[in-house]
Amino acid sequence: MAGAPCAFLLFLLMVSQPRDASPFTVSCLPVSMNGILGESVIFPLLNPGAFQSITWHGPSPANAEAYASHRPLAVITPGAPGALPHVSMEDERYRGRARLHNQSYSLEISNLMLADVGMYSWETATADSNIFYSYDLHIHKQLSEPEIRIQSMMAGNGTCNVTFTCSAGEGNKTIKYIWTRSAGAPVFSIEESVLVQHRLGDEDSPVTCTAMNPISNSSASASPKAACEGPTLPQAMSLPYCHAKGILVLGVLGTLLAGILTVNVLAAWEQRQH
Ligand SMILES: *[C@@H]1O[C@H](CO)[C@@H](O)[C@H](O)[C@H]1NC(C)=O
Ligand SMILES: *[C@@H]1O[C@H](CO)[C@@H](O)[C@H](O)[C@H]1NC(C)=O
Ligand SMILES: *[C@@H]1O[C@H](CO)[C@@H](O)[C@H](O)[C@H]1NC(C)=O
Repeated sequence: MAGAPCAFLLFLLMVSQPRDASPFTVSCLPVSMNGILGESVIFPLLNPGAFQSITWHGPSPANAEAYASHRPLAVITPGAPGALPHVSMEDERYRGRARLHNQSYSLEISNLMLADVGMYSWETATADSNIFYSYDLHIHKQLSEPEIRIQSMMAGNGTCNVTFTCSAGEGNKTIKYIWTRSAGAPVFSIEESVLVQHRLGDEDSPVTCTAMNPISNSSASASPKAACEGPTLPQAMSLPYCHAKGILVLGVLGTLLAGILTVNVLAAWEQRQH
């Protein structure tokens, strides 16, 4: 499958070449490129120097009508001596998004869309060679924080089985998952789901899922203890606070009581004096 576009280009070369043509070179190893949705990609071109033409092709449109009328992404031909080369860019799909870099004629496509995936190639013709070079463009989204789904179940004897399932984009085959136990610890699973056993009352040992695609990665963590025992209040913090509050209230009540008693006793004592 990967060879098909090359074969197609080779065929194009053969039919477009006069029979008595000078020797030519074909370089036909599609290079894989990863683009980020909404950002730019630059396809480099090896400028041959004195060229007869440089042609950039975009992916073939899937739609038959669009296919019939589609043009090369860019065609560059030398101008008159001393004048600038002539550049024609007529592929509607890239209007306002494609530009050629000065001197090199490398192709930059900005504001990448999912529909931009596919084979891009350049073709340079000089007096004695024709060179093809192709790129296989993949488009990826920047990953956001993965979602971790939790299923816990008591397995008897104070043990709880928790299954964590990580997701950073449903059905996206380019996303890989790695589960780790704590920073720097060895990877303990590369599945989407992982089963963790937690003994009730044991220390917590959070798990971290890192979702990765060729252009980004993102992590989220979950707690087996919280999954099995429910979210716990920070006990160590709340108890001294309650005690302190209780002592304060008791202190205030005590002072008030002492005050009231003193006033009453004094009043009674004074009455008795008269
Ligand atoms: C809990 O996990 C262990 C280890 O994978 C398994 O042998 C056991 O059957 C599980 N128990 C339940 C109730 O799912
Ligand atoms: C339950 O846990 C105790 C203490 O860890 C262990 O001695 C016992 O063998 C366990 N029983 C079962 C059925 O797993
Ligand atoms: C995750 O992405 C950061 C940059 O955002 C990179 O430095 C790091 O190496 C990546 N980690 C993995 C495991 O790919």
